[in-house]
Amino acid sequence: MLNLIRHRAPLFLSVGMGLVSTAQAEIRQTSVWWLPRNVSMFGHEIDFIFYVILVLTGVTAVAVFSTMIYFIIKYRARPGVSAIHSHGNNTLEVIWTGIPVFIFLALAIYGNEQWTQMRLKTPPADALPVGVIGEQFGWNVRYPGADGKLAKMTASKVTKENPFGVDPNDPAGLDDFTTYGELVFPVDRPIRLYLGSKDVIHAFYVPEFRLYQDMVPGRIYDFVWLKAEQTGKFQLACNQLCGQGHYKMFGKLSVVPQGEYEAWAKGKAPQPTAAKETSTVPVVMAGR
Ligand code: CUA
Repeated sequence: MLNLIRHRAPLFLSVGMGLVSTAQAEIRQTSVWWLPRNVSMFGHEIDFIFYVILVLTGVTAVAVFSTMIYFIIKYRARPGVSAIHSHGNNTLEVIWTGIPVFIFLALAIYGNEQWTQMRLKTPPADALPVGVIGEQFGWNVRYPGADGKLAKMTASKVTKENPFGVDPNDPAGLDDFTTYGELVFPVDRPIRLYLGSKDVIHAFYVPEFRLYQDMVPGRIYDFVWLKAEQTGKFQLACNQLCGQGHYKMFGKLSVVPQGEYEAWAKGKAPQPTAAKETSTVPVVMAGR
């Protein structure tokens, strides 16, 4: 028993704090007790539909269970009271079938419209392209250089030495730079992701962006984009069980003002193909 309390102490403590503290909102914003803070442009609609569904299902659950309990008590077996034989009620059937049909259709249409905006429309042309290739167990990240263009990533060209699957002579890629597990996004600017995998299925997951995308090896996902509306430090977590090291497949992600992003990018040396840790030694290229 003592052991149990000792193990669960942090849990009891957080529940207690959540109940009594005036800082409840902050705890809910940052802990597992409620949704994490949303910093993404698309997150408003996602959270909205989440709350709509939560309220609808919550109200329905309360209504159904309270009616059920009321009827269980009201129509319980009692000596001398005979059972009522009901043959149904067509009007009621139509009503309680029609209302859910309407609700589900509305949710489906609204959800589909949001999905279209997020994933099916072409990302904005001024978006910053960022390549992210998952591997056991880490993130290869590729940024465009001064030209703002990322080398073309081709899934069939992805190898151990060339995780992004780029042509080393692609002029767009000569000034690209890479990092390992470090992502910096400018705030209020669309980011177009080019996602892929070197080995097994990984997933790009940032709860504060309300963004989740599986990365199946053999293809480059070029339709995922986002816009962060607030600065902050976040964690990019792999969300597909991808092997023994899955639990440590983290990326450091920060959203910073545009100027800060530019200063960070300026300090990075170009790496046309590059794999592992960002090298501090610039790659020497013809014509430079
Ligand atoms: Cu990669 Cu889990």
